[in-house]
Amino acid sequence: MKILMVCLGNICRSPLAEGIMKTKVPDSFFVDSVGTISLHEGEHPDKRAIKTAANHGIDISKQRSRPITNEDLENFDKIYCMDIDVYEDVISKAKNEEQRQKIFLFLEIFGDHENAEVPDPYWGDMNDFEDVFQLLDKGCDAILNHLKINN
Ligand code: 4NP
Repeated sequence: MKILMVCLGNICRSPLAEGIMKTKVPDSFFVDSVGTISLHEGEHPDKRAIKTAANHGIDISKQRSRPITNEDLENFDKIYCMDIDVYEDVISKAKNEEQRQKIFLFLEIFGDHENAEVPDPYWGDMNDFEDVFQLLDKGCDAILNHLKINN
């Protein structure tokens, strides 16, 4: 199973989602993250995201931002988008129905499509990053439960 987490810059939300998900899945899984923009390409995650993950014993410091590619849409099995703008951007890149079927809003697992957005902590403070961590942690559990992966 190959899981891709997607946000805007790939320096705050999706790196955290990648780091959290990696702690919960079997070795046979591959988890990665990308952004829809290339503004931060090659950069490590935001310092506040690195610190928040480290507070929970997770090292995301070696990740590097990269933008999503057409190959990602082909290669990954499940693609989870952090907010609706990101979701619409990724859907617009899909070439066929098979690709569209892989693309989800990360929080839609909780059933409320309207409110299924992971808020962007980029303009916030450490409390916002911690709130996002908790939301992502719950979401990862719910996704794995749905995929019938015991963790
Ligand atoms: P992310 O947060 O999408 O969670 O990585 C952002 C990072 C950078 C910017 C916006 C959001 N930016 O505008 O540079």
